[in-house]
Amino acid sequence: MSRKILVTSALPYANGAIHLGHLVEYIQTDIWVRFQKMSGNECWYVCADDTHGTPIMLRAEKEGITPEQLIARVHGEHSRDFAGFLVGFDNYYSTHSPETRDCANDIYGKLKAAGLIEVRSIEQYYDPVKQMFLPDRFIKGECPKCHAKDQYGDNCEVCGAAYAPTDLIEPFSAVSGAKPELRHSDHYFFKLSDPRCEAFLREYTSSGVLQAEAANKMQEWLGAPGDNKLSDWDISRDAPYFGFEIPDAPGKYFYVWLDAPIGYMGSFRNLCAQKGLDFDEFFKKDSSTELYHFIGKDILYFHALFWPAELQHAGYRTPTKIFAHGFLTVDGAKMSKSRGTFITAESFLNSGMNPEWLRYYFAAKLSNTMEDIDLSFDDFVARVNSDLVGKYVNIASRAAGFIAKRFNGQLAPADDNLPAIRAIRDAAPRVAELFEAREFSKAIREIMALTDGANQYVDSVKPWELAKQEGKDSELHAACSNALNLFRLLTVLLKPVLPATAAKVEAFMNLAPLSWADAGTLLAGGHAINAYSHLMTRVDGKQIEALIEANKQSLAPATAEAPAKPAAKTAEKKEAPAGTDGLCTIDDFMKVDLRIAKIVNAEHVDGADKLVRLTLDIGEENMRNVFAGIKAAYDPAQLVGRLTVMVANLAPRKMKFGLSEGMVLAASDLDAKTPGLYLLSPDSGAQPGMRVK
Ligand code: MSP
Ligand code: ZN
Repeated sequence: MSRKILVTSALPYANGAIHLGHLVEYIQTDIWVRFQKMSGNECWYVCADDTHGTPIMLRAEKEGITPEQLIARVHGEHSRDFAGFLVGFDNYYSTHSPETRDCANDIYGKLKAAGLIEVRSIEQYYDPVKQMFLPDRFIKGECPKCHAKDQYGDNCEVCGAAYAPTDLIEPFSAVSGAKPELRHSDHYFFKLSDPRCEAFLREYTSSGVLQAEAANKMQEWLGAPGDNKLSDWDISRDAPYFGFEIPDAPGKYFYVWLDAPIGYMGSFRNLCAQKGLDFDEFFKKDSSTELYHFIGKDILYFHALFWPAELQHAGYRTPTKIFAHGFLTVDGAKMSKSRGTFITAESFLNSGMNPEWLRYYFAAKLSNTMEDIDLSFDDFVARVNSDLVGKYVNIASRAAGFIAKRFNGQLAPADDNLPAIRAIRDAAPRVAELFEAREFSKAIREIMALTDGANQYVDSVKPWELAKQEGKDSELHAACSNALNLFRLLTVLLKPVLPATAAKVEAFMNLAPLSWADAGTLLAGGHAINAYSHLMTRVDGKQIEALIEANKQSLAPATAEAPAKPAAKTAEKKEAPAGTDGLCTIDDFMKVDLRIAKIVNAEHVDGADKLVRLTLDIGEENMRNVFAGIKAAYDPAQLVGRLTVMVANLAPRKMKFGLSEGMVLAASDLDAKTPGLYLLSPDSGAQPGMRVK
């Protein structure tokens, strides 16, 4: 009987581009889903954009658009990128949807009825200028431990200390720069510390739904029996917030992490309406269907504790398994914008590189553990060129031409007893088990060993020599037909990883869409194939160099634009961004293009009390327009004609008043103890456009 399976990948935030790190997860999930579908199971794969929260609200504001406009644009970009990498969602939806809102209200109502919601007044930092409560990541200040400046409100990226925002020395709002005030506000809590939640989670997290590593982590978070370490979870945020307003609490919104996993339900509910599926069959308590969440190890806390506890106590089924994977590193290091290894999906697709190369490479590296995986470009080039092109595609390219030219495109019957053919048919169930168990690297190793066997057969019969010999027609026909049957069987095994290539093979070999059962069958004699055209090209090292170059970004000033995910108290520490030892290399520094600029005009900006609009000459054809926050210190008239220093390669920034195309440099006291702002000037003789280094 076929299984009924619902699969999800984590919902990417709607304020950033999909990058190769994300793709580890979506490709891993997609391979697994394609394998399930090929095996004849009813399997649905849903995902959505995670659209709510302060960062998205502020990002939209900065771009001068509404959050709805921002998330609509990003939805288009994300959908394009996933399609480009052949990630075949059955539904790619949005958490900002009526279905997700209904599910969130429903779950909240049920938890409340169960006595698991509590209102408490808490004290929190408030930005009096921006008039909003500040999430931890939007408060900065001096680290209370090591006294590094400019650290976030939850942990120090220099010494790694974790603390509360109220521990920061000289805190300031990363949104407005204002000094935050402590204010009281009523917040809604999900009572995770309730004995019912504790009892359920102890049982649930040790029942085999988690990988061993993850289960151990959960034991740590839960505390020893009798020592409940779970604390209640704050699920509300105050206006202004982009999210769903809590039904019975005007001005209070569900915290983004409350409705994010509920977005899985929302996306599936929307799919059910499209396909006439029964939502309840999948989500009712004791459902016989299976539910799997693929996630990164950084969001385990949310998926293994909060989410199952919510489902359980709202009367729904809980996830069958939660599959966590590790993080992607590139050439052994964390992805880095300045090194060009923070590679976006879009840039990869635009470079003309084949997305299936990456799918294959990730498959060759992935296991079912939470270990990090490394993308080494040398290894990438070697594996794609030798395995995919050199071994796999090579089989077809050596046999297909002769069938077309000499045998009217028709195959001879394959030899059932050929060892290479039998090897594949025998191995198929084992390979299936490896796919099912998410042991993709082992599956690929096995498939490549079988591919070696197929090539040894072709090498032993040498069709290219048979073709030159008189009277060897039937041997040539048999050899090429066996080779193409081998190729077809290997294509079945690789199809979850290489769906586009498999489709090309199906077209060229004139096959109905291959399913897993086809790994046990051979083509009948007389089967006609179509003309072969090349299936896959080799990677050229130059393509990689160009890709890295295209992803090198100049160093932008540190801002709180894209805070990392909201940290659960006991969640794993976020990784520190590159260069957090506080040092930058000469290469990093040289990326900042500093130029002598002549201020040819300076004027007030209507409606902006801090800004001056500068027109700068840096020796280029066009003048640069820069908005500088120096109004308090300078009268525009006194600036015209003087020289200063500007950052000429700062990414242009769209502001309410127009585009700002750079930044001028000025000195000020870090602690703002001594007032004032001092624009830099060069010694006399410097000319506009000269490089400063
Ligand atoms: N919005 C949350 C998830 C909500 S799920 C209800 C989120 N979004 S994310 O965009 O930051 O990440 C989406 C997924 O991509 C997460 O599972 C995350 O672990 C994964 N990855 C993001 N960067 C990654 C790497 N560098 N390497 C591997 N996976 C990574 O978290
Ligand atoms: Zn510190």
